[in-house]
Amino acid sequence: MTEDPPPKDCEASKWHSRQKHEFLSAYLSIWTDHVGRGGSSRPPLEVVDGFAAFGWCRSIEPGVSRTPWEGTAVIAAKAMVRYPAAKRLILNSYDPSAGTPQSHQLECLKRAIAKVAGAKPRFAVEYLAAPIEDAVAHAERIVDFRYPTLWLLDPYSPEELPWATLERIASHSHTYGTKRGQETRRPEMFITLMTQALQRNVDLRPGMITSALGLPESDWRGRVREMVDSGANTRQALISIYGQKLRSIYDRPPIVIEVRGSGRNIIYALFLCSNHDAGQFMMLVKKLPQYSSWQEHQWSPQARRISKDRKRQRRGRDSTFQAGLDSELFKNG
Ligand SMILES: C[S@@+](CC[C@H](N)C(=O)[O-])C[C@H]1O[C@@H](n2cnc3c(N)ncnc32)[C@H](O)[C@@H]1O
Repeated sequence: MTEDPPPKDCEASKWHSRQKHEFLSAYLSIWTDHVGRGGSSRPPLEVVDGFAAFGWCRSIEPGVSRTPWEGTAVIAAKAMVRYPAAKRLILNSYDPSAGTPQSHQLECLKRAIAKVAGAKPRFAVEYLAAPIEDAVAHAERIVDFRYPTLWLLDPYSPEELPWATLERIASHSHTYGTKRGQETRRPEMFITLMTQALQRNVDLRPGMITSALGLPESDWRGRVREMVDSGANTRQALISIYGQKLRSIYDRPPIVIEVRGSGRNIIYALFLCSNHDAGQFMMLVKKLPQYSSWQEHQWSPQARRISKDRKRQRRGRDSTFQAGLDSELFKNG
């Protein structure tokens, strides 16, 4: 049995991010449980986590269990342990506030991965601690784009993941011959698009949207306006523009889910881009219904509890404030 890490060794997260981790696990289970059983036809797999953080997460919300859960890096490492042709795992854990590449989060990540993969894993594990652009530049020199690569791109803020970085990763295509003719493989990408932050900044900081979407302001603003005029909201318009851009690179639409916070507001959208037909089909037909069932039966009841707790606390604060106003101190000036 593995011991849970202490709270200070985990990424401080909110309960809604459990949905992101479940969605990623669902996708990786296609590799471990289906592609992995393919005998000699199993391709080597390399995974790059550009925002690996601590490896583990814990809730910072009241009313949620303090038990940590696995973050993207630990989920990926576990999948690599199970996938017979795992080749390399590259983990970038960059803490801009640390001032040095050696950060507490990087040390915690190394410990977490050693526990999961063992001291001498069957596959290579490499650690980086660099801004995403430098991490991508480093990783693309090492990985072999003739085979499948999966890139996990899970920033805090849209500013940490400019469109130019995604485009750079996706530009590594490899064309090969199959019985059906020529096929082109591109790196697979799992992306968190921070829609709530983008929505808030459409007018306050339009440069944020320009960088995230990789479009001039006149272009994205016109498209958003058009979609809003025909009944969409700003979030839906931004997701649609992002999805269309990814579609034009991958020749098929990405799989997209919206992630709600405990209070039911949508915080971000997850995009899964792949041009692997069987993987995409399996995700849509089998894994997404399983994910929805998990969300309804396991995630939602806890989310409702958090939301109730939050309302109770707010009411408590309001009544303390009201009691203060009603106190003798404020009476008669
Ligand atoms: C949302 S967290 C990642 C959580 C992680 N994927 C998980 O599931 O546990 C974002 C991480 O990106 C790091 N970060 C912040 N700015 C960055 C940048 N410019 N490039 C790369 N990483 C950055 C933060 O230190 C933080 O660890």
